[in-house]
Amino acid sequence: MQRYGFFLYFQTFLHFFLYFCAVTLNKEPMNSDSRATFKSKIGIIMAAVGSAVGLGNIWRFPYEAGQNGGGAFLLVYLICVFVLGIPTLLAEMTLGRMAKTNSVRAFRRVTKHPIFERIGYLGVLSCLLILGFYTVVAGWTFQYMWESVSGGIMGLTTEQFTQSFVDFSTSPFQPIFWTVLMLVITHLIIIGGVQKGIERASKLMMPLLFVLLVVLCVNSLMLDGARDGLTFLFKPDFKAIDSSVILSAMGQAFFSLSLGAGVMITYASYFEEDINMPRTATTVALLDTSVALLAGVMIFPAVFTFGIEPTQGPNLVFITLPNIFAQLPLGGVWSFIFFLLLALASITSLISLHQVVTAYVEEEFKMSNRKAALVVTCLAAVLAVFASLSLGVMNDVRIGGMCLFDLLDYVTAKIMMPLGSLLLCVFMGWRLEKATLISELTNRHTLRWNMIKAFVIILKYIVPILVTMVFVNELGLFN
Ligand code: PHE
Repeated sequence: MQRYGFFLYFQTFLHFFLYFCAVTLNKEPMNSDSRATFKSKIGIIMAAVGSAVGLGNIWRFPYEAGQNGGGAFLLVYLICVFVLGIPTLLAEMTLGRMAKTNSVRAFRRVTKHPIFERIGYLGVLSCLLILGFYTVVAGWTFQYMWESVSGGIMGLTTEQFTQSFVDFSTSPFQPIFWTVLMLVITHLIIIGGVQKGIERASKLMMPLLFVLLVVLCVNSLMLDGARDGLTFLFKPDFKAIDSSVILSAMGQAFFSLSLGAGVMITYASYFEEDINMPRTATTVALLDTSVALLAGVMIFPAVFTFGIEPTQGPNLVFITLPNIFAQLPLGGVWSFIFFLLLALASITSLISLHQVVTAYVEEEFKMSNRKAALVVTCLAAVLAVFASLSLGVMNDVRIGGMCLFDLLDYVTAKIMMPLGSLLLCVFMGWRLEKATLISELTNRHTLRWNMIKAFVIILKYIVPILVTMVFVNELGLFN
């Protein structure tokens, strides 16, 4: 009976996967007459999920949770996703579909106001800065793919895994090589166009990653440290919740949902008019959160089994995962598939980051898509090279006590994205006419949605007040 159950489970996944392959291979003609749109509804969700799901869930979430007390962090994170994240996501989507343009011009199209019309620049800058460190980590996945096939990460002890990661990530050449390769791939997809490139890539990669994560979670749950790992992740120690845990959890929620950087404004500008946006926003957030939770369930049992410190920081996943693979039969194969999918998940996020800046450069400076993309790729490459070097040979160069890599991560996730989200919500709640907002959300009164009142209150009051309080508290002004 149990076997049969597993079979059904497997079959469902297989259908899921085959369905996506079928949709992906079903080539539809590109919309050439107007602004491009995503063709299928499932494609829209997958592209948005593709942007949201990435290193943020699998690399950043576990290490932030590990550094911020596990359960305490998770609790605050979930509250942030539901109270701040979903409404902000919906606000971004609404603005994007209304304005149908890049994330800078979107604000200008809806309002003429000297301050409000500048909010979009913050998002474009965030995306560029995120590209600077995100590509570096995305590049690491290539190294691990390579080592999986060459056998380099098999048969080592935990200390050796750790040492080999440190040696690699601080060396001047190898990481840069992979980083640049990652950027080149992203660049090629971007110039392939919205529908052909982004949509097709997302539809195939996302479901596959999900399936593999589930398999690896099942494996982790059978490890000796499973109980300790799950307790660490799911049992909140309320005393551990302080201002820095809250800031970290809030930053993670915005980072993971790609909020406050104009991504969803840009993507929603390609939406068709009949998309049910409240439902789409909720689905994207739920899928994104499930991937983060799966990553946690995959990582923490292993962390406790192999005696790794949960507070390791950005190294955590890259030290823990090889341990997991090393004790699996055919570990190299699993490892290769996993890092391949992680690379693909990073690419779908990189595409969205790149696309925000490219759409801006293309439309504002009247450049061709190719030229705009090239400008963005070059800028990102320069930043990424320095970010990578800042972990090794340039580690002494510190700004505010942080190396460039950490600084880019901190400034974007903990300051710029929450700030961008706050300004967006103020804009949508106070500046946009309420009738217009409601008409947009309900697809011109053809949809019913009984959360509208709550949504407006959240936009106008809750997000601005909460985010401001977290900032003020972090600055220590409450004491
Ligand atoms: N949300 C992405 C992730 O979790 C990262 C990202 C941030 C992408 C901001 C786009 C914009 O990996």
